[in-house]
Amino acid sequence: MRSAIEVFALPLEAVALEISQRLIASEALWHPLGFVSATLLKDESGTLKLHFWPKGDRRSKTPDWPIHDHAFHISSRVLVGTVGSVRYEVASGSTHRRYSVVYSDSDSKLKPTEHLVSCREAGRAIMQAGTKYELPIGTYHENIVPAAELALTLVLKSSALYTSPNVVGTIAIPDLPLYRRSPYSIEDMLTVIDKISR
Ligand SMILES: [Fe+2]
Repeated sequence: MRSAIEVFALPLEAVALEISQRLIASEALWHPLGFVSATLLKDESGTLKLHFWPKGDRRSKTPDWPIHDHAFHISSRVLVGTVGSVRYEVASGSTHRRYSVVYSDSDSKLKPTEHLVSCREAGRAIMQAGTKYELPIGTYHENIVPAAELALTLVLKSSALYTSPNVVGTIAIPDLPLYRRSPYSIEDMLTVIDKISR
């Protein structure tokens, strides 16, 4: 059986086949950043996930603050569509507040911290299908897939080095409701993957 890191690196047709076989046995859930996420495989080499932005549908958390970091290293491979990735430099400052993500089971909530920060764009890239890119642990970024467009990425996460990812939000603390991850139809995703190998 192939490891997560081996599946991630497979040629396109083989990766599409592995994804559809594993997706059938998995569960797809809406993610607070507005896309659909399904875990395909988890082992000591990492966790392999499929991220899907369906055409015309996003379910972002409230408030919809897209700038975040991760508690793990990410390798990402765009399989279908185009994904914009904007990186940010976040430092001590006075224009934004840092929030941390608190999980309860698969649900999550933002928790304000005392840290006021500044946040400025440090670079952006538009990634077409076929592109692979890396996001080192702690890199603040934002993914952009316009709601009218469809995209599919394969994501390899290293094991977490710390517990809570961070989100950049407003200094004033708004109402921060719990985000419940609702299920999404696997069939829709299978139809898109089916087209990859044709
Ligand atoms: Fe991210």
